[in-house]
Amino acid sequence: MTGAAKHGPVAVSDAGSRHDSLVMLDKLTGYWVSQAIYAAARLGVADQLAAGPRPVTEVAAAVGANADALYRLLRALAGEGVFHEVAPGVFGLSPFAELLRRDHPRSLAALSVMFGDLQYQPWGDVLHSVRTGECAYETRQGIEFFEFLRRDPQAAHTFSEAMTSFLNTCGTVLDVFDFTAVRRVVDVGAAHGTLLCSILERYTDTAGVLFDLPHVVADARAHVERAGLLGRCELVGGDFLDQVPAGGDVYMLSTILHDWDDERCLRILRNCRAAMGQEGRLLVTELVIGDGEGPFFGKWLDLHMLVMHGGRDRTAAEYGRLLEAAGFAVERVAPTSFLRSVIEAVPAG
Ligand SMILES: C[S@@+](CC[C@H](N)C(=O)[O-])C[C@H]1O[C@@H](n2cnc3c(N)ncnc32)[C@H](O)[C@@H]1O
Repeated sequence: MTGAAKHGPVAVSDAGSRHDSLVMLDKLTGYWVSQAIYAAARLGVADQLAAGPRPVTEVAAAVGANADALYRLLRALAGEGVFHEVAPGVFGLSPFAELLRRDHPRSLAALSVMFGDLQYQPWGDVLHSVRTGECAYETRQGIEFFEFLRRDPQAAHTFSEAMTSFLNTCGTVLDVFDFTAVRRVVDVGAAHGTLLCSILERYTDTAGVLFDLPHVVADARAHVERAGLLGRCELVGGDFLDQVPAGGDVYMLSTILHDWDDERCLRILRNCRAAMGQEGRLLVTELVIGDGEGPFFGKWLDLHMLVMHGGRDRTAAEYGRLLEAAGFAVERVAPTSFLRSVIEAVPAG
């Protein structure tokens, strides 16, 4: 996605001097692109093109869109490399658009829908967050985002589906940890249990506990049932700020701590520590921020956590300090296959 791609060719004599302007225009209008992708994902356009290119008029009729407006949307997205206009008015999937298919193993469709439906508007208040250090969502809405999800089952479902989408994209504990000797693994804040189910599928002697807020657990049951794992997976509803289920030998916190400020991270970690025996083990999976000013998705996720939850993504040293304060000793920080790292810790002393 280059500046030239979105803004068209520049006269040769201008090319050098205008390059910075093009790049900046591209960045300034980044939300046009993300919202256009959201519209396509929400309409299910990529699913309509799964069998091959189709005229936009046909696709518009199938998804309930205005044909002219959908043409303009897909033409703009084709300029970004998302979708291809293979003949005038006929569109097909590019490799990027393949990721908007619901049935793709690394589908980003649910994540795109969740960003557009639930998290785009709060980003309009990022300035407030930067001025005050406060969570923009909570200031504007008067409630925490997870409380909003509790009150709106459809939104909660959309969010959990998005978590599955992100999990299927990122590397997980399965890349770096061997569960062969693990008797019982507790997934703390498991959402629909996608990660837990993939662990139980691979390690057939291991049992699991899917722990999340009660309404999330109720929604997760169908997923665990579909995976045929209800016999080996206990579903427990509760609040990890109060306590977590006892008796696991491994506890997982997968993309949990970054939702919270330090004080509430310590509560969650201390509750995990209290629930596990001296032989227990904790696996914290997060996008760990490294040194240097290079691009890293975790730096944007960090800002997103500020806007949406008042949380933050952290460096390995920052996670280490939290874990130590909660009674853990860090054994290692292991990068997974993509984006995330696992911080493995055991009870100190
Ligand atoms: C960012 S999602 C991560 C989901 C999953 N672990 C993953 O890696 O995709 C955070 C999860 O924490 C859960 N959660 C939020 N507040 C909670 C609380 N007080 N007690 C238990 N779970 C909570 C949410 O319902 C959600 O499923």
